Formats: sequence, C-alpha cells, structure tokens
Amino acid sequence: MKNILCIGAGYVGGSTMPIIASHCPEYRVVIVDINEVRIAAWQSDQLPIYEPGLDEIVRQTRGKNLFFSTEINRHIAEADIIFVSVNTPTKMFGQGAGRAADLQYWEKTARQILENSTSSKIVVEKSTLPVRTAEAMERILNSNGKGLHFDVLSNPEFLAEGTAVRDMQNPDRVLIGGRETESGRKAIESLVEIYAQWVPRERILTTNLWSSELSKLVANAFLAQRISSINAISALCEKTEADISEVAAAVGRDERIGRYFLRASVGFGGSCFKKDILNLVYLCEHYGLPEVARYWEQVVKMNEYQEARFAANMVSSMFNTVAGKRIALFGAAFKAHTNDTRESPALEVCRALLEEQADIVMTDPYALENACLDLKEMATRVTYEPDPYVAAKDAHAIDILTEWPQYTELDYEKIYRSMVKPAFIFDGRNLLDHKRLYDIGFNVYPIGKPPLSRLVQHDS
Ligand code: UDX
Ligand code: UDX
Repeated sequence: MKNILCIGAGYVGGSTMPIIASHCPEYRVVIVDINEVRIAAWQSDQLPIYEPGLDEIVRQTRGKNLFFSTEINRHIAEADIIFVSVNTPTKMFGQGAGRAADLQYWEKTARQILENSTSSKIVVEKSTLPVRTAEAMERILNSNGKGLHFDVLSNPEFLAEGTAVRDMQNPDRVLIGGRETESGRKAIESLVEIYAQWVPRERILTTNLWSSELSKLVANAFLAQRISSINAISALCEKTEADISEVAAAVGRDERIGRYFLRASVGFGGSCFKKDILNLVYLCEHYGLPEVARYWEQVVKMNEYQEARFAANMVSSMFNTVAGKRIALFGAAFKAHTNDTRESPALEVCRALLEEQADIVMTDPYALENACLDLKEMATRVTYEPDPYVAAKDAHAIDILTEWPQYTELDYEKIYRSMVKPAFIFDGRNLLDHKRLYDIGFNVYPIGKPPLSRLVQHDS
C-alpha cells in the first residue's frame, strides 16, 4: 500500500483528499495540520468546512484509508507522495507587500519535509504559488546530504467552493506539471495513475512545471476578469436603462464568449481571485512588464469600485444618510453553499456602511461564525442573527449580498410589514423577483437594471 500525505487540512486539502481516498482504496491517505482544533473537527461529526456532499465521503473513508493527524513529522517519514496545501496568503510586509505571495509557510513546510525524510519522495504543490516556486523548492529539498531525491510536481486545484465535491469527482481537467527528466516523467506518471482511477485520461493534462504553475493564476485571472467586465457594464446599464441580465444573455449567446461567469454582482470574493491576480501583477512587475501588470490590476480595482459603488448607491438612495438606520445584510459568505467569508463582498459592504454609522444586523445560514471572526475589530457594532425574519424586523433596508436560494423563498409580505417605511431592498446578486417586491411596496434597487422605486432619485 502506498502512503499519500497532505499537509494543510484547509478548504483545499480537506475537500480534495477524501475524494482521492474514496477512489483509491489501495492508497492510505493522511491529512495533517498544525492546527489541532481543525484536526479534531475533521475527526468529529461536525466538519470544519461546509461543502455539500463532503460529509458522506469523509464518513465512508475515515478510519479505513483516510486519517487526520497533527503528527506531521511521523507521517512525513512514512509518505511516498506529499501534497502541500498550506496557505499562501498575500504578503503583508516587506518587498511585494500587498501583492506578492507570502511563502513562509511553504518554505517552512519544505524544510520540515527534508528534515523528516528517510526516503526519496514526490512533493506536489497543491497551493497556488508564483511561477518558478517549484525551482526554489527543488533547491531546498535536494540540498540534502542524505542522498535522497525529491521530485517536485505542480498540480493546481481548480475546484470551486460550494461545488468542490462535484468539481473533483468530474473535473474539466486535471493539470500536472513536472520536470522533463526521466525521474520527473516517472513522478508525473505516479500522479496520473492516482487521478486515472476516476478521471478519463484525456482530461489529465501534463505540462512543464512553469506552465502548470502559471495556468492556475491565469485561469483565476480570466474568470475574475469576466466578472469585472460584466460589473463595469452594469454601472453603464444603470445610467442608460439597459438591463444587465438581458445584455449578459445576448452577449453570452455567442459561443466564442460563452454564458458562464457573466452574472453581475456586488463583486467577487473568495480566497483566490484577488490574491492570485495580485500575485500575477507582482510577477509581471518582477519580470519588467509594467503594462501587463497594470492591465490585470484593473480587474481588482474594478471589483473594489463595484463594492464601493453598491454602498454609495445605498446611501444616496436612502436620502443621503444611513446613520443610525438598521440595515439587514442577507448573506455573509462570499458565495452560496459555503461558510467561507474570505474577501467576501458582504464584509466590504458591512465595513462601508459602518463608516456611515449604520446599525448592521447580519444573517447567513452557515457563515455567521466566520463573519464574526473576520469583523472582530468591530464586533460590538454588528449584530449576528441566524433568522432572516428577525434580522429584517425594524430595518430600513435589506441588502442581498450572497445568492443563497433560501432567500428567494422567504415571505416578503411578512418581512415588508415588519420593516420601517419606506422599505428598501438592494439586491446585490439580482436574486429576487423585483417586480413582485415592488408590488408588495418595497423600493427595489438591483445591479445593472433600472430601480423599481416610488421615491425621487437623489444623485450623490
Ligand atoms: C489556501 C488558498 O485558498 C489557496 O489558494 C492556496 O492554494 C492554498 O491555501 P485553503 O485550503 O483554502 O487554501 O487554505 P486554508 O483553509 O487557510 O488551509 C490551510 C491550512 O494549512 C490551515 O488549516 C493551516 O493550519 C495549515 N498550515 C498552515 C499547516 O498545516 N502548516 C503551516 O505551516 C501553515
Ligand atoms: C474560484 C475558481 O472558480 C476555482 O476554479 C479556483 O480553484 C478557486 O477560485 P471560488 O473562489 O470557490 O473558485 O468561487 P467562484 O465560483 O469562482 O466564485 C468567486 C466569486 O465570484 C464569488 O464571490 C461569486 O459570487 C462571484 N461570481 C461568480 C460573480 O459575481 N458572478 C459570476 O458570474 C460568477
């Protein structure tokens, strides 16, 4: 039996490894993490991440060929293949602060692998990393006096949160980058063999290391770019009475453009898009390509503009002040079907409204705990309320910030009756039936569509 180890039991490691274990019963899969609380949660009935379908897979494999542990050193020694999915956040200090990736956990992990290894191994980069990180890793790992050889592979993760299980069970592609040496090719083949247990061979792409590392950043940059593009047009729609949903549908019908990722919104969030684009920007600058850097940087700037525009639009529509007004934020997660709040536009809107001295009550079916941690510096100024009806009671406005399907099924007549009048809904996800809400009595402000409002517009 071969031993697979994954270092880092976060969203990436925690959702991919159980699926590998379920398809590869002849491999023993261990996931380790420095965070004891997290590992204890993975061993319990209450998993630390909410991901549809994951509970069942963990339940089926845990204790058979899937194990969670904090004994990192011992498991490194036993492993044949080590996946590394520790976090690589944006560096907040020194050179490249605010843009470059902070590789300290990655490097520390590489050194830990080296110290505890007594046999040669394959080390797989699962975390998103700047191009050519593998080279540094190879140098660290192969600078040992022990006569051991390490093959470093890049195998970026393309799964999206909320659909991680589905994406991993049936991926568009699996990408594996490695060295074009004999030992590199053998290492690639070992990893291909694992994925080939359930992924058709033609969907497993093998490339050189640098193409693989770069493809991950580029895929995320392209996806985010589509959202920033449609969001830029949503601002124009609001000025011209064009309707962004109609424009997106018409544009997306061109097969060359395609219909996915054209949903205008309050902005994109998540742990990857912003971080990866800033990383790409930093790389371009590093390699002396300032024009290319500025081009991609604009995708992030447009997203920040969209979040700020949403909050500013609220203030101007609500008679130029929200101070002291109760505002109910529906949704804290950065997208539906996850409890993840990293870079969530809901938190940005919350911060902007707190600046305006609004009273905020936040509701979300799964993400309130994380939101509370993220907003801890303003904990006393936000109320967290799991019941959306209670959250909306006595509020002046509701903001739809996460596209949870349950928000489409609420009794908005009841909600309307409980709110202060005039009652506002700002639909940052174009999720609800706006005409119906207007007929109930709400003043409705979608994204990229004319508002349905009985009130005179106040220009900011
Ligand atoms: C994150 C990013 O989202 C992704 O883009 C990147 O590719 C990898 O890091 P994610 O799994 O979502 O992926 O991160 P996170 O949930 O923060 O998990 C990382 C885990 O690594 C944490 O549980 C942390 O405790 C663990 N870790 C970190 C270690 O075990 N050792 C370390 O030295 C540092
Ligand atoms: C993304 C990539 O999709 C995935 O391939 C990669 O591995 C990690 O980063 P994720 O961040 O989990 O996945 O979510 P995604 O579905 O891409 O959504 C990102 C953000 O964009 C969310 O805030 C979402 O609400 C927003 N979004 C998405 C829009 O605003 N409009 C759209 O049309 C699509």
